[in-house]
Amino acid sequence: MIPKSGLELIRKNCDAIVWQNELPPTQTELKIRLSGVQGLLCLLTDKVDKEIIESDPNLRIISNMAVGVDNIDITTASRLGIPVGNTPGVLTDATADFTIALMMAAGRRVVEAAHYVREGNWKTWGPQLLLGADFSEATLGIIGFGRIGQAVAKRARGFGMNVIYHDPSVKPVHEAIQVELEDIFRRSDFISLHVPLTDATRQLINTRTLEMCKPNAILLNTARGGVVDHDALALALKAKRIFAAALDVTDPEPLPVDHPLLNLDNCLVTPHIASASLNTRSRMAEMAAQNLLAGLAGERLPNCVNPEVYDRKFAE
Ligand code: DGY
Repeated sequence: MIPKSGLELIRKNCDAIVWQNELPPTQTELKIRLSGVQGLLCLLTDKVDKEIIESDPNLRIISNMAVGVDNIDITTASRLGIPVGNTPGVLTDATADFTIALMMAAGRRVVEAAHYVREGNWKTWGPQLLLGADFSEATLGIIGFGRIGQAVAKRARGFGMNVIYHDPSVKPVHEAIQVELEDIFRRSDFISLHVPLTDATRQLINTRTLEMCKPNAILLNTARGGVVDHDALALALKAKRIFAAALDVTDPEPLPVDHPLLNLDNCLVTPHIASASLNTRSRMAEMAAQNLLAGLAGERLPNCVNPEVYDRKFAE
C-alpha cells in the first residue's frame, strides 16, 4: 500500500478504492477495480497496458508512484489525451546513495564476507583473504547522466574516482567526461546504469558489451532490470569475464530463486529498494497523490511525462 501521507491526501479530496494486498492486482483484477473510475494511482508493479487503459472510458489521469514509467503504455495514454504523472527528483539522493552502497558492497565483497563468517569459514587473518576493488583513482563509467547519474558522480568523486559518462542528451554539469558508449565498457572499473528502459536501452548489457569490459569491471544496476541480459551476465560472472555485479533491479522481478545469478558469489541482488528510505517513499506517495488530484481537477499535472496531451488540448 502507498505510504500514509499520500493516501491521506487522496482520501481528503476524493473517494478512493485502495488495493490492500501486498501482491499487485492481476490484469483482470486491475480492470475490474478500474471500471468507472476517473483516476488511477499505480505502482511500477502494475502493468497499465493498452487493454487496461482502453477498458475505462472515464479515465482522466494515470499517476505512477515512480519516476520510471515503463510499466505504462504512454503512447495509448497520449492518444486518448490522458496525462501520465511520475515522481522525479525526490528519489534522486536515496537512489544515488544506494548505488554507492552497492558499489562498496560488491567491490569489497561485503555480503560474501558476512556469509563466510556465518558459515564458520573464518579461521585466521589472511593476507589474500577476500581481496576486493580499490575505489580511489578507479574509473566509474555512468550510462545515463540525468539527475540520478549526476548524483552518483558527485558521490563517487568524494572517493577520488574518475568519472566518465555516456549520455548524448545531457551537457556536463559536474566534472565528468562524456565518452562514446564503447569507451564506457572498455575503460571503466565500475559501470553504473541510470537509463530508463526503452527500446533503445533494452539489453544494452549483453554478451557483446560484456565482452568489451575489463576483467575487474563491476556492474551496478539501480535503473531497470530489462537493461541487462541476465543470461549473458550470469555467464560472464561465472566465467569471471567481469569481477562482480550488484543489481537492485532484475527482469523479471522478483528473480526466481533458482535463477543462476542467485547462485553466484560475485553477484549481489537486492529487491528493488534503491529509493526505499522513509522520507523518500513518503514524498513519492505525496507527489503521486498531487499528480492524481491535479488530473482529477482538470489541472496540469505538476509532473507529467506526456505534456503533449496539453499542447493538443490548447490547439483544439
Ligand atoms: C522509480 O521510481 O522508478 C524507482 O525505480 C522506484 O524505486
